[in-house]
Amino acid sequence: MANVAVVGTQWGDEGKGKVVDWLSARADVVVRFQGGHNAGHTLVIGGETYKLSLLPSSVVRRGKIGILGNGVVIDVWAFLQEVSEMQARGLHIAPDNLCIAEGAHLILPVHAELDRLREAMRGASKIGTTGRGIGPAYEDKVARRGIRAADLATPDLLARKIGDLLLHHNALRRGLEEKEASASDLLERLLKIAPEILPFVGPAWRTLNAARREGKRLLFEGAQGAALDVDHGTYPFVTSSNALAAQAALGSGVGLGAIDYALGITKSYATRVGEGPFPTEQRNATGRTLGERGDEFGTVTGRKRRCGWFDAVMVRQAAEVGGLDGIALTKLDVLDGMERLSVCVGYEVGGRRLDYLPAAAADQQAARPIYETMEGWSSSTRGARSWSDLPAAAVKYVRYIEELIGAPVVMLSTSPERDDTIVMRDPFQD
Ligand code: GDP
Ligand code: IMO
Ligand code: MG
Repeated sequence: MANVAVVGTQWGDEGKGKVVDWLSARADVVVRFQGGHNAGHTLVIGGETYKLSLLPSSVVRRGKIGILGNGVVIDVWAFLQEVSEMQARGLHIAPDNLCIAEGAHLILPVHAELDRLREAMRGASKIGTTGRGIGPAYEDKVARRGIRAADLATPDLLARKIGDLLLHHNALRRGLEEKEASASDLLERLLKIAPEILPFVGPAWRTLNAARREGKRLLFEGAQGAALDVDHGTYPFVTSSNALAAQAALGSGVGLGAIDYALGITKSYATRVGEGPFPTEQRNATGRTLGERGDEFGTVTGRKRRCGWFDAVMVRQAAEVGGLDGIALTKLDVLDGMERLSVCVGYEVGGRRLDYLPAAAADQQAARPIYETMEGWSSSTRGARSWSDLPAAAVKYVRYIEELIGAPVVMLSTSPERDDTIVMRDPFQD
């Protein structure tokens, strides 16, 4: 029985939500394993749009179990807000179909405040975070002073832990000339919300391993993408978690053997929201055209996404460091009507030609793309549901990209709609 991990291979927003939704028809359990409500996953089903930040994409289908694994950071207020928004749209979301891992760390108001304060302080050298407290929450986790979902059940311990946590945060806040946070206020807020959260909290790892033993199919829903991975991305312009498929095991509590297939979601061009190096960025009419046709605005913050040509070097690197078995190529339709298409096949850095993106921030900033160009196609691929519907030049583009990445393109997406998807090889059946 194959279990599939879906991960981003660029700077996020590749269309993971759409692909997870499509695949989840045949999954029993859908698991988020890293990140938090910095993610924004869009699903379009029969003209209805759902934008999910924290909830696994399983919530739109009946009879599926959703898990927020131990690797996810959870803002409990944002969680309840999203649950109630989705319930208002008629979706069933309750402790019988959604589980928060006991060990998942909480994002607290002090985290979001610190995230925003730091960004303001950095000025022009800001990271361009989503301002949701993701980084500071992971910092506290690694520093062993974080508050976990299970802690909500023991008020005495929670009070002690808040004391410890605020000792650290208030020292920082004094340094930033910010008002200190009150321990009693935070305790009161958490105890007030605890009865609504605790029914969802449980040993998610057990649920997952039991499901596996029963032969159920697991689908791991990654957030962000390889270039935002804290180890392998364009550090420091990254998120604060690992976004590669290997994290699916650690961030949910299953063994490596539970991940049979890593599917990399890849946009047919490149986008990035926030600051940081982006070698193929097009700050010109091409970039504007891609942005307009691709409707490239951040799902979470509404920020305009930076747009550029497809960077095959970066995606090949993502395929190698992340161990991808196959690629789902999305938004091919956005390239319809472009006369010529450029694809980055290497970089020039300090007079040297490289076939990978070096780790040094200065080199990443200095990397100049080396392009191959090819002819575009004038007919429409939008909504195509079979390979034979594609113009020859589009097929050529897909095959070229596949060859450069070194991983097979097994799925193609041709519009935001769930069913506008071409499947060459089903990852669940592989
Ligand atoms: P995610 O974060 O990876 O789940 O991606 P987002 O949902 O943030 O951004 C992808 C955007 O592209 C969403 O608005 C999707 O509805 C849309 N989308 C997904 N696949 C396609 C496609 O094949 N064609 C077009 N035109 N839009 C797509
Ligand atoms: P999905 O799952 C695109 C970016 C932010 C910023 C950097 C760090 O929808 O693909 P953070 O708030 O995580 O500390 O911000 O990461 N970022 C994303 N960009 N898609 C996402 O998620 C992102 N999540 C974070 O814009 O540059
Ligand atoms: Mg997104």
